[in-house]
Amino acid sequence: MEWRITKEPLDKLAVDGVVVVHTQEEESLKGCTRVLDEALDYRLSQLVSEGEITGKYREVTLVHNWGKIPSKRLLVLGLGKEEDLDLDWWRNGMALAAKKAQEAGVKQLAIGCFPPHLKGHTSTNHSLTPERFNSADWVQAVVEGIELGTYRYHGYKTEEQGNKNAIETVWLAMEGVSESALEAGVERGGAFAAATKTARDLANDPANILTPSTLAMRAREMAEKYSLEIDILDEDRLTELGMDALLSVARASEEPAQMIVLTHQGAPESEKVLGLVGKGITFDSGGIQVKPGRGMEEMKGDMAGAAAVFGAMEAIGRLKPHCNVTAVIPACENMINGNGYRPGDVIGSFSGKTIEIQHTDAEGRLVLADGISYARRLGATSLVDVATLTGAVIVALGHTTTGLMTNNDEWAGQVKEAARLAGEKMWELPLYPEYGEYLKSAVADLKNEGGAPAGSIQGGMFLKVFAEETPWVHLDIAGTADSKKEDGIRSKGATGVAVRTLAQLAVGFGK
Ligand code: BES
Ligand code: MN
Ligand code: ZN
Repeated sequence: MEWRITKEPLDKLAVDGVVVVHTQEEESLKGCTRVLDEALDYRLSQLVSEGEITGKYREVTLVHNWGKIPSKRLLVLGLGKEEDLDLDWWRNGMALAAKKAQEAGVKQLAIGCFPPHLKGHTSTNHSLTPERFNSADWVQAVVEGIELGTYRYHGYKTEEQGNKNAIETVWLAMEGVSESALEAGVERGGAFAAATKTARDLANDPANILTPSTLAMRAREMAEKYSLEIDILDEDRLTELGMDALLSVARASEEPAQMIVLTHQGAPESEKVLGLVGKGITFDSGGIQVKPGRGMEEMKGDMAGAAAVFGAMEAIGRLKPHCNVTAVIPACENMINGNGYRPGDVIGSFSGKTIEIQHTDAEGRLVLADGISYARRLGATSLVDVATLTGAVIVALGHTTTGLMTNNDEWAGQVKEAARLAGEKMWELPLYPEYGEYLKSAVADLKNEGGAPAGSIQGGMFLKVFAEETPWVHLDIAGTADSKKEDGIRSKGATGVAVRTLAQLAVGFGK
């Protein structure tokens, strides 16, 4: 998809489709919508008075041009009530409009919205002016909405590859937004959306194709493209370093474990290093405590945390923010053979701590333990790990909200602010010391699981031990990493959740 900025008036633009907006409880059409209404001899006003266009949030009304304007189609996007409007509604609304435009065969799409929309607004409540939204953020949301709303996973069908109906060019026809805000929004939105698509593609790919080694290969290609430093630790080096936790999980698989390290040195003068760690289990069978058969195919997506970190590094490589970022992706399969780790085993870890295996299906925290310790060794001063860690987080928060846990409220505050800007919902679960009881072991420093209660918190408590005193946030994305249905910017299958939060965090980390 190509993005262009234009000053051409909407009623003169030779495109296939134009998106304009309308809010609820508005007596008359405003701004761009009004310009088109006039060009169409007030047919839009008529549709409003007939109740066909209500401005209700998520409503997209497709109308024709009656031979009055060059654009063949016109899409009126309902935004709901002005006072409820936030960036995320924009993002998702734009996704809905783009989907509808694409279905109608629109290849050249124009977006015409306020600020001009507000011109002549008689009410004193100018809540939609760029003071409420930073206009670059707002343009960014438009770009992300359209790019992500029209995403499709291509897969491996031998016929019908590619999307014949894909939107080719989007024209931003937004008066009243400075050129620099438009350019910044397009650049950042383009990078964030592309990175999210990368993460979706990775997590949607099947486990026989996306093995730890192919993930490492793709990371190498990405790093070369965007000039990131990369180091891939093979099993010999992992053994030398004593990454016993990662290697124990990998032991029952034919696929060798890989530890992928990507580095962005954007502020060499600074001591601060943002450390990102992503769970990269390319397939999780559960190990000898094997998962039920039905639904196990979903465990090809157990590397969604790795995909989020991978995607965020792609965006960081493109945008080159003024900060240092070190990403660590411990990747392996959790499979079953005669060499696999067993419940009751005591294993070591890169940190030196010993771990009693209580459950072979609690493998994510083991590979993350070594990933977190290694990120600290490489100099990370603030950490975020991202993982499809527990089914329990789905019970607690469902599929809309990521579980957030931390050892440092201030750092968690920064992550939450980045998530808010990205429109990714996160909710904190507590890591009170009392929960440590569950992980006490009679034979090792701790065990990897302690029975049914507080399942997600147990995962957090385990990881907290390895984060030690480094400010750290754990994001449990088991519920949000994939979606059963398409909705707004969310696609069916992998969602690419956390990519934009992490990328946003990196952009803010330099400031
Ligand atoms: N990968 C799973 C968690 C998961 C469940 C992700 C559902 C996505 C959807 C993880 O490795 C796991 O198996 N967790 C166990 C932990 C338990 C054994 C302590 C779980 O949630 O049952
Ligand atoms: Mn598991
Ligand atoms: Zn898992």
